[in-house]
Amino acid sequence: MKWLKIEVSIPDHNFITQILVNGQKLCLIKNQNEIYVIQNTCPHAGGVLSGGWCKEGNIVCPVHRWEYNLKTGMGAKGQGDYIHLYPTELREDGIYVGFKESLWQRFFK
Ligand code: FES
Repeated sequence: MKWLKIEVSIPDHNFITQILVNGQKLCLIKNQNEIYVIQNTCPHAGGVLSGGWCKEGNIVCPVHRWEYNLKTGMGAKGQGDYIHLYPTELREDGIYVGFKESLWQRFFK
């Protein structure tokens, strides 16, 4: 696992924003004092999840309002899809996001 620090200051209140990390646009969410990093593109039809909102532990896509659970990534009942959740770690110097490394990347470290 490769851990990269997010260069964003986290406010005290809930928020959702797009971040650029590891060359990818991701969605950073603070909801009820938990930090989540998820893919930023909705698997339904490409909506931008960082333009959405949180409801009862789900991120709601602003385009067609499909919902995805922030702890499991699973789509709401009947959707049959899911989003990718990135591991996050709160360290003394900030928040880190984990990216899986391929065997090839591990070999050439
Ligand atoms: S594009 Fe996200 S719900 Fe349709």
